[in-house]
Amino acid sequence: MLLVGTTLVFGASAMSQSGDYGESQWWSPGEEHVIGDALEFPNAEGRLRLINTGDPINTANHPFFAPIGENGRACVTCHQPTDAMSLSAKTARERWDATGGKDPLFAAIDGSNCPSLPQGEKASHSLLLTKGLFRIARPWPPKAADGSEIEREFELEVVSDPTGCNLDPQYGLTSANPTVSVFRRPRPVANMKYMLSLPHGVTPHEYFLYNDKTLLPKDPETGEFVSVQLMSDGRLPTLRGQAGDAGFTHLEMLADLTEDELLQIEAFERAIYVAQGYSNRAGELGGPGNPPGLGPEALRDGPPGELGNNPVNRVFGTFDMWLNPESKAGAKPTPKQEFRASVARGANVFFDKRFFIKDVGVYNDKGLGNPFKRSCASGCHNTVLTGMDLAPGFMDLGLNNWPWNKRDDLPLFKATCHDDAVPQSYLGRVIYTHDPGRALVTGKCRDIGASMTQQMRGLAARAPYFMGGDSDTLREMVDFYDRRFNIGYTDQEKQDLINFMSVL
Ligand code: HEC
Repeated sequence: MLLVGTTLVFGASAMSQSGDYGESQWWSPGEEHVIGDALEFPNAEGRLRLINTGDPINTANHPFFAPIGENGRACVTCHQPTDAMSLSAKTARERWDATGGKDPLFAAIDGSNCPSLPQGEKASHSLLLTKGLFRIARPWPPKAADGSEIEREFELEVVSDPTGCNLDPQYGLTSANPTVSVFRRPRPVANMKYMLSLPHGVTPHEYFLYNDKTLLPKDPETGEFVSVQLMSDGRLPTLRGQAGDAGFTHLEMLADLTEDELLQIEAFERAIYVAQGYSNRAGELGGPGNPPGLGPEALRDGPPGELGNNPVNRVFGTFDMWLNPESKAGAKPTPKQEFRASVARGANVFFDKRFFIKDVGVYNDKGLGNPFKRSCASGCHNTVLTGMDLAPGFMDLGLNNWPWNKRDDLPLFKATCHDDAVPQSYLGRVIYTHDPGRALVTGKCRDIGASMTQQMRGLAARAPYFMGGDSDTLREMVDFYDRRFNIGYTDQEKQDLINFMSVL
């Protein structure tokens, strides 16, 4: 550990340029660490920085970090500081190697492909080890939080079941407790100010879900509208609800979290900000002279709930100061200047380069037109400093449903919608899906495969990307969009976009 100003740096002090930066800095449940104002963690691209706006935290007895459930896990097991408060597949593999698969991370629920498989064998945990995926078990037919059944507009059949869990006599769709198993990535638990804020400048009676124009749900405790930006399917829209559910499912707790534990967890979640703080190639990311949106300090100080799809308010601010390296007449730009210029071009591609967004379920059919010409930022990634879609809406980008994406490692379901259901606009009433997504919450045909955008910070620390871990690298992510929307990025544009995302 190395002390840099007020910032503690964990792990290797000499960062090599090759990406060989050693092991991730794993925090085990119950271990003592002190989170002061700031911590840094090395990753392949440089260093992630975490800042804490609350009092210093000693993790030893803190309910986010302590193994308070039955299986030895804590929240931190899947929300690791070194991985931008998510968990990378690389870290999962390192954990397997370090513990011979004995770490509570690999508990049968939900760190294996199915609890009925022989535990302790790599093959039984393949989705976690290859794609960083956890099994999310959802009741079938869909149920509301209070346990009441939700009227469903479709039936589900299992077409293929590589993990065995959906056909399993104990855990499957036709078991005594009919359950759908889908597999999802942990989402970063940080920068929550942005995730929890409603759009600014909108009067409360207009707070509706983009998809179906129904009013947003309300927080049962406060009666206030909630943002619906949490979780890929929005099933638990408050931190409190989410923590309680995580206690029961991921930690296998037998009793509810206490009021004190809930307060401590929520206070911690609201106090921390993460972003890449240092880039091996661009140097220090925050501070004067650099693009104002980089580094976690920008997140700490920035305004939540703002729309960044216009030239006055650009999602991640301006990168102009890096665009044209000033150099002495005739001098060649340094590699650092060249990299910074590439990042700045990537920011412009993200913001300006328009392409035809086509056949996105519960998006193009909402009066925008199909196709609809927009850029990454003006199409969907428009929340200032975090890049989610500020208008909460679930959509089928093409990650979960055929024919856009086909995966051999995930279960495949055939959803057949009832004749009187509003069909999914582009796929109709028979939909092949790897994860019905939002439809497992609403029961609606048109929501099959739809999910919520997620924040774009700390990306270098938490591959793979997308809710099903589809893209192992930022390049694969860019290639997905390029294919899906026939964008036709040049190689240079792709590299610029990748470099841009690597410093977020
Ligand atoms: C076994 C792994 C695991 C553990 C342990 C775990 N989580 Fe999570 N967490 C996940 C996954 C997976 C998701 C994404 C679920 C989805 O999108 O459907 C998630 C999502 C979240 C989110 C939503 C973040 C966002 O921006 O969408 C919050 C908040 C959260 N978890 C808090 C907690 C808390 C608090 C605990 C401890 C009580 C905890 N988690 C324990 C795996 C885990």
